[in-house]
Formats: sequence, structure tokens, C-alpha cells
Amino acid sequence: MSPAIHLNPAASTWRYSPPTGNPFTAEFQIQTFHSLLPSYSPTPLYPLPSLAEALNVKSVYLKSEASRLGLPSFKILGASWAVYRAVLDFLDMTLTPDHPLPSLDEIKFLIQQKKLESLKIVTATEGNWGRAVTKMAGYLGLGTVVFVSGHMHPFTRELIENEGLGAEVVVVEGDYDKAAEAAKEFGEEEGMGKERLLVMDMSWEGYEKVPGWVVEGYTTMLAEYGAQISQQTDGGEGATHVFVPCGCGSIARAVTQYFKDSERENHHAQVVAVEPDSAACLQASLQRGEMTTVETGDETIMCGMNCGTLSGSAWGVLEKGVDASVIVTDKEAHQAVTDLEKEGIEAGPCGAATLAGLRRICGDGAARERLGLGKDAVVVLFCTEGRREYEVPV
Ligand SMILES: Cc1ncc(COP(=O)(O)O)c(C=O)c1O
Repeated sequence: MSPAIHLNPAASTWRYSPPTGNPFTAEFQIQTFHSLLPSYSPTPLYPLPSLAEALNVKSVYLKSEASRLGLPSFKILGASWAVYRAVLDFLDMTLTPDHPLPSLDEIKFLIQQKKLESLKIVTATEGNWGRAVTKMAGYLGLGTVVFVSGHMHPFTRELIENEGLGAEVVVVEGDYDKAAEAAKEFGEEEGMGKERLLVMDMSWEGYEKVPGWVVEGYTTMLAEYGAQISQQTDGGEGATHVFVPCGCGSIARAVTQYFKDSERENHHAQVVAVEPDSAACLQASLQRGEMTTVETGDETIMCGMNCGTLSGSAWGVLEKGVDASVIVTDKEAHQAVTDLEKEGIEAGPCGAATLAGLRRICGDGAARERLGLGKDAVVVLFCTEGRREYEVPV
């Protein structure tokens, strides 16, 4: 089998048990929240019959996050819910069953009334996340401080700086992990708790609540998928195999929880997580059986996935629930971008990496057979971003 593929056979029978008893984190409430944000509409699920034929599977669908709540990636789903919940918490506001969700205007008014306009949301990013957090903070009348790696393209930095009410972008020498450490330190600085609110999409010991809200936010994409696949197949079969990109692992965690949910028998599918060869921390962790950090540089076009360390709480789910981890190169991701373009799909390299991962598995007879990816397979690719500029690999 190709060294780029790691299989995790125990995952096929593992089931995720969702937390019970908290109706306020229920999916419908999160969907209601998203549906009330400016420019909400469900993103499309495209059938790709010619790809299915070429790969000798029953069908391939692609859920495209090219345009989500006014931004070109899925991240705003998690960022919006997490910023909203974190600010509510900060204001000591609780969600109650007999009261509708507080509106953005109500929260903004309260912030002004309490003279908290100088509160800064603090985070770290590879690009899309920081932009999404800044957009959502802007809806509440708040600014952000966003830590980025020195490897980030100046164009991406500008996009973050100019989003929402504007972000103060702090460039940190080194990779994403270094930027995340700096954000953590700044966000949690002693005595500054009242002016700074740390909202990160990766968790570590003692910092799990906010990243948990991020993962909850991503469930809207999955709920949409559930309705769409059922409609497109006339209530027939859902996916048998799903492909998701993996950076710090939060979106892969959301996808794994959904497709391995013990209460969602009719949606069970094998989960394949795709990583760039420059930052394959999930595969390294699966191989060693423990969370493992890998060195990363600036050398991938799959920028959003350029993380050397997994989110701690994502690892807890991915180690048990991911059926296969696949590593792809920049050239493969770029090829997939080009191929999807021919199908009329505008994808960036992170989103198209899922097709590159599918190709890798299909090109490896042993892995394909062990994953049961045969002619009856229904494949879903979670294409997490729209078209963007990048340096074409040679
Ligand atoms: C477009 C895109 N796809 C995938 C990912 C990976 O998501 P996660 O960090 O939750 O694994 C990111 C992260 O920034 C991203 O921007």
C-alpha cells in the first residue's frame, strides 16, 4: 500500500455518542442562528457523474463552500457561532429554552451600554479563520487582534486587515504553531481578561469550550448535506465514503462525529481525512498512536491545512473515528483544482485536496479494496474553499 495512505480499521465500528440533555447546542438552534446572519443560504451539493464514471464508483457529490455567508470558505460557520457564544458568555448572558436567541443588534447594544467597545477578539490563523472571526466580530461592533505566521502571503494579511471593522494583524516569526502560541499568550495575559477574548479553533488542555462551539458551528454544513443528499437521491442512500481536509482537525472532527453518530444510523459512512505532505500531523499521530507534532514550513498551496499540531479535542475523535488518512502533494491538489474547473466547480487547493485524496485511494488497489470503495460507493467530497490565487507548483 502507498506510504501516503494510513488505514484505521477499528474506526469502521466505532460510534460517536453525542452529549445528551442540552437543547441549546442542538443543531436546529445553530442553523437558526446561521440563517439569521447576513447573506445566509445553503451551499450547493453538486453531483459529478463523469468523475464517478472515471473512478468507477456509483456517484460522486461535492459540497462546495466556495461562497459561505459572504466569504470564500466554510470557516465562518464555526467562527460566527463561537464568537457569538463566547461574547454571550463574556456578558454573562445565558441561552434559555423559552427565550429566542439574542439578536446581533441586542448584543451590540449591550456592549455599548456596558462601554465594552474596546474589547478585542484575539485569535491566530492561516487565513480563512482570522478573516471569518473578524467579519463576525464586526457584526457585534468589535475589532480583532489576529496573529499570523511570517509565512503568510501579504495579500492574505490584507484580506484579514480589511474585513469587518478591521483587524490588527500581528506577524509572528515562524509557522502557524508559533502564531497560535503567541495568540494564546496575548489572549490570556494576566489582568487583561476584560479587554481580550481568545477565540481559537484549536483546543488544548483547559481550553476546550470555545473550540467545541467552533465544531458545533460546522454542523450546519452537515445538516444541509443531509437534507440535500436525501432530496437528490429521492430519500435513497447517503454517502458510503466522505473525504474531508484536515488542518488542526476541527472540520474533520465535525464530519467524523456526524458520519459516526450512534443516533444517525442511516448516515454512517467511512471517513477519509486528507492532509498536505508538508503538514501531515494527523497521519503522524495515527501512526504513532499518540498526538504528534510535525515541522511545517511555508511550502504548501493548501495554506489552511498547514498546521503542525492537531486540536486536542479533535484528536480524541479522529484517532477513533477516521477510517483512513491520506497525504497529497501540491501538484495533486493543483491537478484536482484544474479538473474540478472543467466540471464547472470553482475550488481552491484545500477544497480540491479531497478529490486528490480520492484519486490516491482509487489508485491503490489494496487500500481501495480494504475501504470497500467499489462500484457501489457513493462518495461525498467536502470542498471547503472557493477559487483563489496561488503559485502553481512545478
Ligand atoms: C479552506 C480550508 N480548508 C480546510 C481547512 C482545515 O480545517 P481545520 O483546521 O478545521 O482542520 C482550513 C483551515 O483553515 C481551511 O481554511
